[in-house]
Parts: sequence; C-alpha cells; structure tokens
Amino acid sequence: MLKSFFYFLIIYFLFNSSLIFSEEKPSRNGNTVYDVACAVCHQNGLAGAPIFGDKSSWGYRVNKSLDELTLSVKNGLRGMPAMGLCMNCTDRELESAVSYILNSL
Ligand code: HEC
Repeated sequence: MLKSFFYFLIIYFLFNSSLIFSEEKPSRNGNTVYDVACAVCHQNGLAGAPIFGDKSSWGYRVNKSLDELTLSVKNGLRGMPAMGLCMNCTDRELESAVSYILNSL
C-alpha cells in the first residue's frame, strides 16, 4: 500500500515536472503568424514584397523550396528584415507562415 503510494508520487512528480520545466510553447499556425507579422508587407507589396495570393508577383521564387524560402525569411533578404519581423517566431512557425503564403498562390 505504502509502496504503491510511493510509486504514485514519483509518477505524479515526473508528469508535473515535465509540464512545468518544458520549454515548448504551443506553436502558432501559419495563418496567425502571417496576420501578425508578414501581412503588413506581403498583403500589398510594401517595400517590393511579393504579394499574398498573387502568383505573378512571386516570379522565379515559386521554384524555390520551402527550406530555401524559410531560410530567406530567417536571415532576411534585401527589403525583408530578418525573421520577417517576427522576432519571437520559431523556425517551425516561420515555415508554417511561408507554407500559408505558398498555398495562397
Ligand atoms: C518589412 C516588410 C516585410 C515583412 C514584415 C515580411 N516580409 Fe517577406 N519579403 C519582403 C520583401 C521586400 C521581400 C522581397 C525581398 C527581395 O527579394 O528583394 C520579401 C520576400 C519574402 C519571401 C521570398 C524569399 C525568397 O527567397 O525569395 C518569402 C518566402 C517571405 N518574404 C515570407 C515572409 C514571411 C513568412 C514573413 C513573416 C514572418 C515576412 N515575409 C515578413 C518584405 C517583408
């Protein structure tokens, strides 16, 4: 009886500590990241940005891979500041935002 209570405590502690100490935040989806960070430029082509939903404005870029495009966003590219101004975005969130844009084309 005491022994099983002891095991229960250990399992309880392990479960809770992984919740408390886990650094992982739930990832925002591409749509949310786009609206918050990217739309300001990509909705209307500010600063020469290729436009959401307008394939012709993307030109040669549509042939780039998702990885290449995401890397451009992360590092910045000419008129686009690094991280596409989403300074607290994870790599995965940036990639989701790029996918969201690509799906609009
Ligand atoms: C301050 C304006 C601005 C913001 C904010 C911005 N972009 Fe851009 N983006 C640009 C401009 C300008 C270009 C074109 C750069 C060039 O090729 O000269 C560009 C290009 C891109 C490209 C093409 C990159 C390539 O390799 O050709 C992608 C993909 C992209 N942006 C995604 C995003 C995403 C995703 C976000 C939000 C996380 C974002 N951008 C936020 C201005 C912006």
